[in-house]
Amino acid sequence: MRAIHIPRLDGPSAAEVVDIPEPGADGVVIEVHAAGVAFPDALQTRGLYQYKAPLPYIPGAEVAGVVRSAPRDAPVAPGDRVAGLTLLTGAMAEVVALPPERVFALPDSVSFEAGAGVLFNDLTVHFALRTRGRLAAGETVLVHGGAGGIGTSTLRLAPALGAARVIAVVSTEAKGEIARAAGATDVVPADGFKDAVAELTGGCGVDIVLDPVGGDRFTDSLRSLAPGGRLLVVGFTGGEIPTVKVNRLLLNNVDAIGVGWGAWTMTHPGYLAQQWAELAPLLASGAVPAPEPVVYPFERAGEAIASMENRSATGKVVLKVR
Ligand SMILES: NC(=O)c1ccc[n+]([C@@H]2O[C@H](COP(=O)([O-])OP(=O)(O)OC[C@H]3O[C@@H](n4cnc5c(N)ncnc54)[C@H](OP(=O)(O)O)[C@@H]3O)[C@@H](O)[C@H]2O)c1
Repeated sequence: MRAIHIPRLDGPSAAEVVDIPEPGADGVVIEVHAAGVAFPDALQTRGLYQYKAPLPYIPGAEVAGVVRSAPRDAPVAPGDRVAGLTLLTGAMAEVVALPPERVFALPDSVSFEAGAGVLFNDLTVHFALRTRGRLAAGETVLVHGGAGGIGTSTLRLAPALGAARVIAVVSTEAKGEIARAAGATDVVPADGFKDAVAELTGGCGVDIVLDPVGGDRFTDSLRSLAPGGRLLVVGFTGGEIPTVKVNRLLLNNVDAIGVGWGAWTMTHPGYLAQQWAELAPLLASGAVPAPEPVVYPFERAGEAIASMENRSATGKVVLKVR
């Protein structure tokens, strides 16, 4: 089969197409049509992610495709259209074999390209807003990196989970258009976002900040919370890991909350299935619109991964495998 290999930790440009044997028939074997690309894929090509894969490795955390074979007790059967999680590496290949609990039937209305972009971000955002952030009906959510993968996922999902207003923070006007198309009620520039949010909310602040960026905006994010607000720490695309002066939490009765979805799924068997049971009907009915990813051809995997670290990616990025 054809697969993408990362043979050395030189960054995304090290990505190359190789011919290697298919995986064995353990678990659910999937003929992959598309593979998702996410920020951790870029970090891993430089050895900067918490998980270090032995070299060479196949990048990618999620796929969509058709089941070739499955154990009898699996929730899917040969011929089914599915999305699946490798979680860390292994997705950018023509065939993958996955544990049954990480494979989910894809609604007919969701294309393979959109399906390859649905699990990693949407389940992270669902975990962040529902389980960690305790989003309540009628609340206001602000998301940093609003035109990115996690950002557009938040804009698509939050209204269906009860948010009345979703504010996107972005770095350029073009990204503002992407955020609006994904469902943002309001868009504000990253520079000076605190004042813009204060004005938009009449000085009340927001109930939840979902933050995949970190860096120097963290303190202003805390300052943008309404009393009882929650700041959800999702990632650090800005590079710097911020520190919290905990008196800020006390003064305004706000929470800073860690969101580690992958780690949660490892210690909570059945959680992924519960999440998909809630999300799949919302995708099938259109209540949560499917992502509209930017699709790269297989041979340009390196460019697709690079778009994460050079900040040019908009929305979800996906690799077309067949
Ligand atoms: N905690 C979890 O369980 C979990 C799960 C999945 C992903 N994540 C994390 O979530 C983060 C976002 O992932 P993603 O796939 O959504 O990434 P993405 O599509 O590349 O979006 C990230 C956004 O970050 C913003 N950004 C600010 N400074 C940046 C910089 N120096 N370089 C690049 N981007 C910068 C960009 O928006 P602007 O240009 O508009 O500022 C960009 O759109 C990553 O850190 C990832 O590891 C965490």
